[in-house]
Amino acid sequence: MRTHHDGPAAGATDGYGEGTRAVRAGLPEPVKNAPTLPGPVFAAHFHLPGEVDGPYTYGRDTNPTWTLLERAIGELEAPGEEVETVVFASGMAAIAAVLLSQARSGDTVVLPDDGYQVLPLVRDQLAAYGVRVRTAPTADDGQLHHLDGARLLWLETPSNPGLDVCDVRRLAEAAHRAGALVAVDNTLATPLGQRPLALGADFAVASGTKGLTGHGDLLLGYVVCRDPALAAQVRSWRKIVGAIPGPMEAWLAHRSLATIALRNHRQWANALAVAEALAGRDEVRGLRYPGLPEDPSHKIAARQMQGFGGVVSFTLPDRAHAERFLAAARLVEDATSFGGVRSTAERRGRWGGDAVPEGFIRFSAGVEDTDDLVADVLRALDAAAAPQV
Ligand SMILES: Cc1ncc(COP(=O)(O)O)c(C=O)c1O
Repeated sequence: MRTHHDGPAAGATDGYGEGTRAVRAGLPEPVKNAPTLPGPVFAAHFHLPGEVDGPYTYGRDTNPTWTLLERAIGELEAPGEEVETVVFASGMAAIAAVLLSQARSGDTVVLPDDGYQVLPLVRDQLAAYGVRVRTAPTADDGQLHHLDGARLLWLETPSNPGLDVCDVRRLAEAAHRAGALVAVDNTLATPLGQRPLALGADFAVASGTKGLTGHGDLLLGYVVCRDPALAAQVRSWRKIVGAIPGPMEAWLAHRSLATIALRNHRQWANALAVAEALAGRDEVRGLRYPGLPEDPSHKIAARQMQGFGGVVSFTLPDRAHAERFLAAARLVEDATSFGGVRSTAERRGRWGGDAVPEGFIRFSAGVEDTDDLVADVLRALDAAAAPQV
């Protein structure tokens, strides 16, 4: 037992199963009379007499609450490996940090054309800085044919909201042969569902707002990579733009990580059960869930993912039908985002940023009892399909 706070116990969760790793990830060595997970450290500056040295100096650069969370996320993304993790104020802050710290004027970046709906804004910003951007679909490894001379390949798999899956290992090998770095947006899968670094990526990047933390009460982002030089560039970008998480958010996120295995496994089971129920409905078109054996994404997903995620996409006949479904559901909140403990769904077309039909629904399974959730979805579908008077 230590008698002083000595930072996280490096490698303390090596060799354990994922549930065990989740509850212990990033915890410091036990300190007598201290809490298991130290509370958030609210500090803009730290005592710093004399020379500028030691781990904690100024609150935009470092914070002990981030240190523990970064260690925890690294242990989940790359168990048993030495990696560097940098946490951010949001997923977009993490995405921007990788793209904008790596791409220079004249470089070429390859993005998916069906990724998260803010990526086109990033694309415009990159173009404004003189970065050439190529885009291609996630499905069928469409980005494979655009790698010549590229500096960075950005993958999002499964893609949001279309749920296409690409072969990360194949794309990463081709990108590296072409001299490009590879980043994977791991938001939808979570580190429990997919490990981009083990599949050959240079950066695992994600929004921690979703299934990582799972309670819909904070925004967070992170970048994990093996190469300390790349990590230093990403960390420097965070310092420059100040896109830092608050200590309270960082602490809440770490607290939530303890239950990630419980949450994710129930969400994945619920998503599969909902997808199977939707498959039996005549009014449902374009059903997508990588866990369904007949889904176009299933083969690659089964090879590279440990879980298929909690998001299901499908299309109802029209906008009014989709709105009736959302209004009729009692256990499914009409809200954006995904990965939370309470099921949510939304008519994605209402944002205007995705190439989806008006009746397209993105459904995120929560941790409700499976029978209750499936019954609620089927009841809401019946209500939405009933003749309108
Ligand atoms: C795949 C994906 N990446 C990144 C983000 C951005 O995350 P944040 O909202 O935390 O900035 C989202 C948000 O929905 C997302 O779905």
